[in-house]
Amino acid sequence: MMSQKKIEESVSRRKFLSLAGMGAAAFAVSPRFAFANESGSDRKIRMGIVGGGFGSSFHFHEHPNCIVEAVSDLRADRRDILMKTYSCSKSYESLDKLLKDPKVEAVFIATEAPNHAKHVLATLRAGKHVLCAVPAAWTLEECAEMRDTVKRTGLTYMMGETSYWRQNTISVRKMYAEGQFGHIFSAAAEYNHPVSEGSALLIENGVPNWRYGIPPMHYPTHCTSFLISVTGERLTDVTCLGWGDKTPMLTNNRYKNPFANETAFFKTSKGNPFRVEVNWRGALRNVERGEWRGEKMSFYSSYGDVDPATIVKLVQLPGVDEGGYPNLQDVTEKYDQPKWWKTDMLPPSLRKDSYHDGAHTFITHEFIDALVNNRKPAVDIHEALAYTAPGIVAHQSALKNGEYMKIPSFD
Ligand SMILES: NC(=O)c1ccc[n+]([C@@H]2O[C@H](COP(=O)([O-])OP(=O)(O)OC[C@H]3O[C@@H](n4cnc5c(N)ncnc54)[C@H](O)[C@@H]3O)[C@@H](O)[C@H]2O)c1
Repeated sequence: MMSQKKIEESVSRRKFLSLAGMGAAAFAVSPRFAFANESGSDRKIRMGIVGGGFGSSFHFHEHPNCIVEAVSDLRADRRDILMKTYSCSKSYESLDKLLKDPKVEAVFIATEAPNHAKHVLATLRAGKHVLCAVPAAWTLEECAEMRDTVKRTGLTYMMGETSYWRQNTISVRKMYAEGQFGHIFSAAAEYNHPVSEGSALLIENGVPNWRYGIPPMHYPTHCTSFLISVTGERLTDVTCLGWGDKTPMLTNNRYKNPFANETAFFKTSKGNPFRVEVNWRGALRNVERGEWRGEKMSFYSSYGDVDPATIVKLVQLPGVDEGGYPNLQDVTEKYDQPKWWKTDMLPPSLRKDSYHDGAHTFITHEFIDALVNNRKPAVDIHEALAYTAPGIVAHQSALKNGEYMKIPSFD
């Protein structure tokens, strides 16, 4: 038997063997979580949908256990879009009015991020279940109030985190559960969404909207979910640095935020390092992607449509190397991504591609199915706050030039 030291030395000398392009049949995984409504219930959840931008890109009207009862937006044009998308004839001029409708059992909140906590709390207090777009909250005080209110009301809260349901992430979660990675000892994630100062995404009719000057780490969930949703670990400590210049967006915004880009270095509850970047400016690929590095296998998710995901696997070849050590080699393969949205993870009417790499049909189904079967949704309140709160603390750290800070737990 080789000593651990010899094995480590051998690994450090191992040859790089690229098998890119060979296909990834050896790593194919089969769906383990079939279309969940095994109870065969014909119960119909009566949904309200609020926010006709992002909120108009889901599939509630196509789900066998859902009826879109009503929609709402402050803007008439967006109410029209929502009514058309969801084939729904009832609309309200505000969330407050929709919440008075006794027929509405559950609400999808797709309003501006800084108002999520306020709108979620109002919905829960009206006695309705809630699905909300990311992030869960804006302050740590809101995080605590949301956790307590979900517990007190006993209602279902789910966050619609798209990175949780990206096809790569679904694969990685399955592979990790099957033990293919071994221990994941480090991870990284990046969310790059470069925008120019005067972009219509930030300024509507000459007025800066909620996205103008938003602190990058207040929008961390597309990254933090990559690790937390796979291993279940929590982020306990952080140091973060930010970068910004003197453009108007960073010298005059409602958040007093001077940073266009922030990079955080988190410590996890397993003592592992996790690097997270959220960037709004620079020569960057517009991506949401993760990297998971394990003892036995690592996974580097795709760069959008440009480069496919890659797997690196440590394999032991026959015999020993020149020094008599185990003949370990890292083998790099292009990952042949299964399209999970085509499988029985979804009801037949939802088996189609959807926005954010197939995430929107999964979010639709997960929320409705959790309510129908009276079970916890995958991204429940604790999971949602575990994705959100670390970013709030990371931004505080960046404002203090990288001060090392503790992250409170909301479990
Ligand atoms: N990948 C993702 O997960 C992803 C992608 C895009 C947007 N989002 C999230 O979705 C949310 C919405 O994004 P968006 O781009 O559509 O923003 P947006 O500002 O374009 O739209 C928000 C809409 O909410 C409406 N609204 C606000 N308060 C309301 C109220 N009290 N009653 C009724 N309507 C109200 C506004 O009129 C507006 O039309 C944001 O929180 C954003 O973070 C998530």
